[in-house]
Amino acid sequence: MSFSVSISDIQQMSINKRSMWREWNRLPRFLRFVIIILLVVCFLSLIYVYSAFRELPLKMKKSKLVQQNDITKITFPISFTESLKKDQQVKPQNNEQIEVFGKGQQIETPHNKSKKEVKKVTSKDVVKQILGQKEEKPFEAAGPTNPYQKAVVDAFKHAWKGYREYAWGQDHLKPVSKSFHNWFGVGLTLIDALDTMYVMGLKKEFQEAREWIANKLNFNINKDVNFFETTIRVLGGLLSTYHLTQDSLFLEKAIDIGNRLMPCFKTQSGVPYSDVNLQSGTVHPPSWSIDSSVSEVSTIQLEFRDLSRVTGRTEYEEAAFHVSKHLHTLPKKDGLVPMFINTDTGKFRTRSTITLGARADTYYEYLLKQWIQTGRNITWLKEDYMEAIEGVMKNLVRKSKPNQLVFVGELLNGKKYSPKMDHLVCFLSGTLVLGYHYGMPISHLRLAEQLINTCYQMYANTATFLSPEIAHFNLKNEKSSDIIIKSNDAHNLLRPETVESLWYMYYFTRNETYRSWGWNIFQGFERYTKVKTGGYTTINDVRHPLFVNPRDMMESFFLGETLKYFYLLFSDQQELSLDKYVINSEAHPLPIYSAR
Ligand SMILES: *[C@@H]1O[C@H](CO)[C@@H](O)[C@H](O)[C@H]1NC(C)=O
Ligand SMILES: *[C@@H]1O[C@H](CO)[C@@H](O)[C@H](O)[C@H]1NC(C)=O
Ligand SMILES: *[C@@H]1O[C@H](CO)[C@@H](O)[C@H](O)[C@H]1NC(C)=O
Repeated sequence: MSFSVSISDIQQMSINKRSMWREWNRLPRFLRFVIIILLVVCFLSLIYVYSAFRELPLKMKKSKLVQQNDITKITFPISFTESLKKDQQVKPQNNEQIEVFGKGQQIETPHNKSKKEVKKVTSKDVVKQILGQKEEKPFEAAGPTNPYQKAVVDAFKHAWKGYREYAWGQDHLKPVSKSFHNWFGVGLTLIDALDTMYVMGLKKEFQEAREWIANKLNFNINKDVNFFETTIRVLGGLLSTYHLTQDSLFLEKAIDIGNRLMPCFKTQSGVPYSDVNLQSGTVHPPSWSIDSSVSEVSTIQLEFRDLSRVTGRTEYEEAAFHVSKHLHTLPKKDGLVPMFINTDTGKFRTRSTITLGARADTYYEYLLKQWIQTGRNITWLKEDYMEAIEGVMKNLVRKSKPNQLVFVGELLNGKKYSPKMDHLVCFLSGTLVLGYHYGMPISHLRLAEQLINTCYQMYANTATFLSPEIAHFNLKNEKSSDIIIKSNDAHNLLRPETVESLWYMYYFTRNETYRSWGWNIFQGFERYTKVKTGGYTTINDVRHPLFVNPRDMMESFFLGETLKYFYLLFSDQQELSLDKYVINSEAHPLPIYSAR
C-alpha cells in the first residue's frame, strides 16, 4: 500500500481553491448575500428538525387542545411492589436544654395559670410534659411501591445530591453554577424537605439532615426574615416532621422559631408586620410598601394554632387567630379580599386588585383549612369560605375561546376584568375538592374539575410540557388559541400548585386520568429542568425546548411540595390520610383536632 501526495497535487488543489474564491468574488454582491442567507436558513432548519425529533414523544399540536384520551396511555394502578428495607425507626432523642422562651424571661407555666406561679420554662420542659401526656405513633413510610413513585424518589435523590454537594445547610441550591443562595440563612431547603424524605422512606438522607438540625441549625442570627414564608416553610416543616416522627428535637426547634416570629404581631391592629429580625425581634413592613399582603397575614394560623395545641401555650393561636377574626369583620366584595392591608389601621387598601393569585390566594385556602383543623364547628370560617367561592364564580370565573377553558381572572383596582391567571391559582381545584368532601355544594366540585383541566392545558400546550408562571386567556373570537403566553410570563419556577390539585382530585375521585396527567407533567420537569450534576433548575422560557434558558435556582418548595405531591399522587394506598391531616400551604401535614 502506498501513500503519497506529490507536490504538484497540492499545488493543483490550492489553485482550484483560489479559482473558486475568485469565482465567488466575481458573483454580484446581492447574489452572494442571498446565498449566505440561504445557507444560514438551511442550518437553522436542521437544528429545528433535530429539536422536533427530540421532543417528539411529548409534542402536542399547538393549535389544537390536547384531548385527554390522546394521552391517557398509562393504566394505574400497576402491581409492582418494591419497598425500601424497613430498618429501625427514628428514635426520639433528647438534646441538651435549649432555652426558648426568651432569655431568662419569667413566665407562667401553661398548666398552673390559676396559681400565678412563675417559672423558667425551656422547650425541654414543654416537650417532657407533652410526651408524658399522649402516645402518638410515628408515621410508617411504606416507601415507593410502583415505578412511578420510584421515579419520583429518584428525582428527589438527584435534587438532594446537588443540594448536599453544593449547598448543604444553605437556603437554596443554584444547580447550574454549583453554588447556593441564602435568603434567610436557616437551611430552608433542608427543613422544607424533612417530611418529604420521611414520607418517602429515605431514612439515610433523613438521618443526615436530622444531624444537621441537631448540631448546626441556629435561629439566633442577625437576619431579617419574611414572617409568612418562615412560618409556612420552617415552623410548618418542623411541626409536621415532629408529628410524623414524634421526635422531640423538631418540636424544640419549632418552639424556638415560633417565639422568634411572635414580635410581628405587636402592631396597633394586631395584623402582623411582614418582616422580623430573628435575633433582636425588630419588626418592619416590607421595604417597598407600608402595608402587609393579605395572603401573608392570613396564612399563618394553621401553624401557630398547632404550636399552641402541642405546647399547651395559648398565646400563639390567640395572636394568629385574632388576625382571622379581624379579617372576618372587614367589608369585602362578595367575600373577596384585596391584596394589601394596613397594619396600623387594620383596614384593607381600597382599590387594589382582586385576585386568586399572588398576595390573596391562600386567604381562601386557610379559611377552609382552619375550619377543618378545628373540627369543623367554627361556623363563620365555613361561611366566609362559601361566600368567597360564590364571589369567585360570580366575578372572576370566565370561559376562554374557542375551547371554553374555565379560568379564574382578576379585577384590576377591584373593577376592571383582566383574563389573567397566575399558575398559583391552580391550588384552587385541590381546595375546592377538599371542601366538597366536607359537604360544600357540588358546584364546587364542578369548578374544581374544570379548573384542573385548564391548569393541565397550561402545561400540555407548551413545547416543553411545562406551564408558564402566568397565562392570559383569549376572550375574543378571532384568535385561534385559548392560552396566550407573554414573554415576561414564560418562566417556570418548578411550582407545585397543579400537582397539588391533581393529588387532591385523585385522592377524592380516584379518577386515573389525574395520575396520567401528573406523569406527563413529571416528564416535562425531568426533560427540561434537570441539571446533570445534581438538582433541578427554574427556567426562563417554557415555549422553546432548545432555549429554555435556565435561571440557576432550585427553590425549597420543589423538594418540600412539588416532589412530595408527585409522590403522593402516584401512591396506590393513599398513605397520608386527609381525615387525619390538614396540609399547610407549603405541603406540610398537620393534625386535625376535634372541636372544642
Ligand atoms: C401545678 O399545679 C398543680 C395542682 O394544680 C400542682 O400539683 C403542681 O405542683 C403545680 N406545679 C408547679 C410547677 O407548681
Ligand atoms: C376522569 O376525569 C376526566 C378529566 O376531567 C374526565 O373527562 C372523565 O370523564 C373522568 N372519568 C370518570 C370515570 O369520571
Ligand atoms: C364546637 O363544639 C363544641 C362541642 O362539640 C362546643 O362546646 C363549642 O361551643 C363549639 N364551638 C363553636 C364555635 O360552635
